[in-house]
Amino acid sequence: MNSTVTEQLIDFNEKQRVFHLHNNLISYIFSIEKGGFLSHLYFGKRVRNYHGQLKNPQRDRGFSDNLPGTQDRTYSLDFLLQEYSSQGDGDFRKPAAVIRQANGSQSTFFVYRAHTISSGKPKLEGLPAAYVLDGSEAQTLTVTLEDELSHVELELMYTIYRDRPVIARSVKLTNKGTTTINIEKLASLQLDLPADRKQVISLPGAHMNERHLERENVNFGVKSFSSRRGTTSHQMNNFIALCDPNTDEFTGDVYGFSLVYSGNHKEEVEKDPYGAIRILVGINDEQFDWQVKSKQSFQTPEVLLTYSDNGFNGLSHTLHKLLRERVARGKFQYALRPILVNNWEATFMDFNEDKLKPLVAEAKQLGLEMFVLDDGWFGHRDDDRSSLGDWQVFQKKFPAGLKRFADYVHTNHLKFGLWFEPEMISIDSELYRQHPDYMLQVPGRQPSPSRDQYVLDIGREAVRENIHDQISQLLDSCPIDYIKWDMNRHLTDIYSKALPAERQGETFHRYVLGLYKLLEELTTEYPNILFEGCSGGGGRFDAGLLYYMPQSWTSDNTDAVARMQIQYGTSLAYPVSSMAAHVSVSPNQQTGRTTSLQTRGAVAMSGVFGYELDLTQLTVAEKTVVKKQVSLYKKIRPIIQYGTFIRLLDPSKGNHCAWMFVATDKSVAVVFSFKLLAEAQPDFKRLKLAGLDPQKDYQNTTSGEIFGGDELMNTGFYESIQPGDFNSQMYYFKLV
Ligand code: GLA
Repeated sequence: MNSTVTEQLIDFNEKQRVFHLHNNLISYIFSIEKGGFLSHLYFGKRVRNYHGQLKNPQRDRGFSDNLPGTQDRTYSLDFLLQEYSSQGDGDFRKPAAVIRQANGSQSTFFVYRAHTISSGKPKLEGLPAAYVLDGSEAQTLTVTLEDELSHVELELMYTIYRDRPVIARSVKLTNKGTTTINIEKLASLQLDLPADRKQVISLPGAHMNERHLERENVNFGVKSFSSRRGTTSHQMNNFIALCDPNTDEFTGDVYGFSLVYSGNHKEEVEKDPYGAIRILVGINDEQFDWQVKSKQSFQTPEVLLTYSDNGFNGLSHTLHKLLRERVARGKFQYALRPILVNNWEATFMDFNEDKLKPLVAEAKQLGLEMFVLDDGWFGHRDDDRSSLGDWQVFQKKFPAGLKRFADYVHTNHLKFGLWFEPEMISIDSELYRQHPDYMLQVPGRQPSPSRDQYVLDIGREAVRENIHDQISQLLDSCPIDYIKWDMNRHLTDIYSKALPAERQGETFHRYVLGLYKLLEELTTEYPNILFEGCSGGGGRFDAGLLYYMPQSWTSDNTDAVARMQIQYGTSLAYPVSSMAAHVSVSPNQQTGRTTSLQTRGAVAMSGVFGYELDLTQLTVAEKTVVKKQVSLYKKIRPIIQYGTFIRLLDPSKGNHCAWMFVATDKSVAVVFSFKLLAEAQPDFKRLKLAGLDPQKDYQNTTSGEIFGGDELMNTGFYESIQPGDFNSQMYYFKLV
């Protein structure tokens, strides 16, 4: 055991056979029970010492089986709160692990063999994961379990951070037997909680309608949230939370489960016949079958398990800090993100160098900081039916090459950003003509198009190398400051030509591992490029991609009102510094709704700010507003992107939406409040703030009025009533 740290974060009580992971905020306790099975005892607010009172109650329950070779009818895995279960071990709830052995059996009994406690946190090979800056920041417990018959070994890894209410968990399987086995399921985490009334929160959605907060009771049976689309998906994010029925934004218990992964996932919540609750989180076991030969290993992705007794804002605060400080990496991790204009909604693919130049010049005039050239600059792409896979500039649009245009952007003192969709192939492309075998395709079957495009088998080295070389040739020949990495369809035709028949079940996960490899290479080779993730908006918004790309396009829906819900929901699990938000034209192109430039600005300024419209078409009055927005955002940007974000009013629960940002030292607060529909007889609601210093006074810099922090938080204040729909107000409070 390494003892470079001052205080132990992990204890093992030999006599009780109990593990206690703790810091000042949380305790996580589990024990080794009869037969060597691990039993979960407690996860929640810190307890100083554990005195044995949570030993699992025993009872002779009908139709529950007992341990093989024993006659004790009161001990059964069927109702023990287990730490990590497996198929066939006598626990009839959903298992964490299903391992198929050479003789076809799927039964395993994993029992305790050994454990180690070390300082720091090991890296997970080939996978994104939370990290530590130095070993004293965290400690890691690794518990080794073994199935005696197959000699399959599981290492359950638990890292507890010293100053965060976070435990990172993952599992590594090693085949110590002599025959090949197959993993049919291997969850990254299991958490069994005692009988209680709980609710689960998920983030479902659709393209242009991502991450809505959904809250429901945990009832008997199994509820699962998942994606089988090859990516995280717009349809169901890979984050869930479990809370009490009375938990709200500011009070009450909540557990968060963030899977650090970008492919198929599944989060299962089961209430067993006796009311106990099991949570399983990991790679989706459907269409998953991974072969592990003798002496080989398999590492699951990591789950970040968080706890808050300060409601959902408390949970988000922990996650925002964790993802920003210990998942995001590189030069832009804490950098102020440039205010950009993107030409997508301004021109779509109908552009050329001459048409873009006035946009660039206007962007400079208005004080913007980056011009992003979106889809349509490569191959011979004039519409979405061609050229994916050909990452050379479209001569017709840029007769002298891309560099001349990039230089033009730079001489206007703007950074230059470029759109790519590296994982895709069009049938009408040079890449397809040369390598028709590079796409995912079932032999003999016509693959299904989506947006007229197909998916590259990015799990294959040759495919990755081709794409990598094309991209780096471009980056080496043209000065590029930012890349928008898009992914505009989901995976079908799951078959990899690189894998034998018995390994086809590995295709989905190998795709994700391949993507991570490619991203690791490119982000390491081009450390000065800011990468933004995108998948038809927020289809791959997850903690895994954040490890490579610190920000992501939140949604293809840029309507300010729709965005209120999308950004509100997204902020539950992801930091504001990761959420790109742009002002677009009104009426909005996705919803047809008309909103004021002020409201569009207020919503977009609540994220990583930019514009996505034809700046040259703005009226003189609008340009004045844009200039003001840009200079305001420059002033508030550090607080927006790196301050504390607090949700105040949920737009799905009424006619209001409000949120605020507080500087880390509480010296400044920026509040945005939105009224959705106008009313003839509005109620007189008071807006109450949060996160301020109650002992100090703050000045509203617009009105000059001074209030106590305690007043703003406890009494609140009346907002002025504006006529018309979709109004917004902004308040800037400064410590006096
Ligand atoms: C996706 C993105 C958009 C845009 C288009 C281009 O839909 O989310 O922002 O880049 O692709 O085809």
